[in-house]
Amino acid sequence: MRLNRSGNSLAMRVALTIAIGAAATIAPRPVDAADVAAGRALALAHCVKCHGKDGKGDGPAVAAEHLSPPPGDWTDKEDMAEHPDVFLRNMIEQGGKAMDKSERMPAFGKKLTPAQVDDLIAYIRSFSR
Ligand code: HEC
Repeated sequence: MRLNRSGNSLAMRVALTIAIGAAATIAPRPVDAADVAAGRALALAHCVKCHGKDGKGDGPAVAAEHLSPPPGDWTDKEDMAEHPDVFLRNMIEQGGKAMDKSERMPAFGKKLTPAQVDDLIAYIRSFSR
């Protein structure tokens, strides 16, 4: 028996459409090296004084401004696996106070665009890959 080619390709197209739709819902933008580099530049400007150049949560402001609790360690794979992207995004956009965390973590939602926050998340994740 011959395969019904047009039937197969229709099924394939439907499956592909669903797969692409699902991927688009879960990951609005693929993470690539450019995002990490852009995120690093933003972090150097806005975050490293507290979070540290190596993402360990040991920037100079931690001691100077007595940050307690200190920022988390972005190189700690187990810890970071417990933080979904939405938590990182909310912390960055809304700040610690709105999240019942340290109010020393500022809110950047008015300073940064959603795409810039995506880049920062890519950068933060790059420490625990
Ligand atoms: C003035 C110091 C300070 C600056 C600047 C700062 N943070 Fe934070 N951040 C903190 C502190 C303190 C915490 C810990 C909050 C807690 O656990 O109660 C924190 C927590 C976070 C968290 C939750 C995970 C973790 O590390 O504990 C994220 C994500 C985060 N900051 C991202 C950023 C980003 C991105 C920037 C720059 C755009 C930034 N922060 C700038 C102090 C700062």
